[in-house]
Amino acid sequence: MNEHPYIDSPIKSHTDMATDTDINTNESAVTDAETSDTNTKHIRIINTFMKRRTHMNKHAEQALTDPKFAQYLVNNSVGDGNLEGIHDLHALFADSPNGRDAPLTLEIGFGLGDSFIEMAAAEPTRNFVGIEVHEPGIGKCAYMAGSQGLTNVKIINGDAIQLLKQLPENHLDRIQLYFPDPWQKKRHHKRRFVSPERMALVTRSLKQGGWFHTATDWEHYAFWMLDVLDNFAGLTNQAGYGNFTPRPDFRPMTKFERRGLNSGHKVWDLIYTKD
Ligand SMILES: C[S@@+](CC[C@H](N)C(=O)[O-])C[C@H]1O[C@@H](n2cnc3c(N)ncnc32)[C@H](O)[C@@H]1O
Repeated sequence: MNEHPYIDSPIKSHTDMATDTDINTNESAVTDAETSDTNTKHIRIINTFMKRRTHMNKHAEQALTDPKFAQYLVNNSVGDGNLEGIHDLHALFADSPNGRDAPLTLEIGFGLGDSFIEMAAAEPTRNFVGIEVHEPGIGKCAYMAGSQGLTNVKIINGDAIQLLKQLPENHLDRIQLYFPDPWQKKRHHKRRFVSPERMALVTRSLKQGGWFHTATDWEHYAFWMLDVLDNFAGLTNQAGYGNFTPRPDFRPMTKFERRGLNSGHKVWDLIYTKD
C-alpha cells in the first residue's frame, strides 16, 4: 500500500535504492543529501522525492520533443536532470523581455505546473523558474507556457537541493514550495523538504527581504514546518511567531491542494522573510 495519496506509483532509481537500503539505519546521522558512511564506505543520498510513474499526455510529450518549446527547458528534460553549469538563474532571462534584472521566483516541485503557470501569467514582469523531477509534469508545464506565449518562465529538470547548493548566496527574491510530499512515516521524516539543513540552503539563496512561502494540507507536517521555520535563525514569520498565514489570494489552488481538500484536509500557509 502506498504511504500516502501523493505517490501514485514509485519508480526506484539508483539513488532511491541507496536511500531505501539506509532507511532503518542511524537516521540521526543522515542529514540532507550526501553523507559518507565511514563503516560501509558508500554515499547515501536522501531524496525529498520519489519519482512517480504517471501517464505522459500528448501535449507533454510534444513539449519535451518539439523545438518550439525548447526555450522553456533549461536542461535535458527527460531522465535524471543534469544541473551541471546552472549557477545563475537570472542569466536564463538575459535575452527575454524582462531581462536578467527582474525579480525572480523559484518554485520547487511544481507538479503538473498549473498553479505555477497561472502565477507566472499573472505577474508578467517577474521571472519564474520552476524545478521538478517529474517528466510528465515538466512537459505539461512547458506546453502550457508555450501555449500562452509566456516569456518569463524557465523550467529545470532536477533536484532542487542540488540546484540550491549551486546557486550563489542572496540570489533569489522568492522561493515557493507548495504541498511538498508529506513523508508521513516517522522513519521517512528525514525526507521532508522543510528541515533545518534544507532551510539553511533556502535561506542562503534568498536575498535579504526575500521570502519563502510554503503550504501543506497535512496537519503534522504543518506544525513541523512551523516549528522548524519559527526556530530557524535568519527567517522571520510574517504572521508572527507561532502563527500560520491566512491563505493569500495570489496563490492559485494546486492539484494536490484540491486533492487534500476533497479528502477533508485543511490547508496551512507559511510565509517567512529573510532578515
Ligand atoms: C506532492 S507534489 C505537489 C505538486 C504541486 N506543488 C501541487 O501542489 O500540485 C510534490 C512535488 O515535488 C516534487 N519534488 C519533491 N522534491 C523535489 C526536489 N528535491 N526537487 C524537485 N522537485 C521535487 C515531486 O516530484 C512532486 O511532483
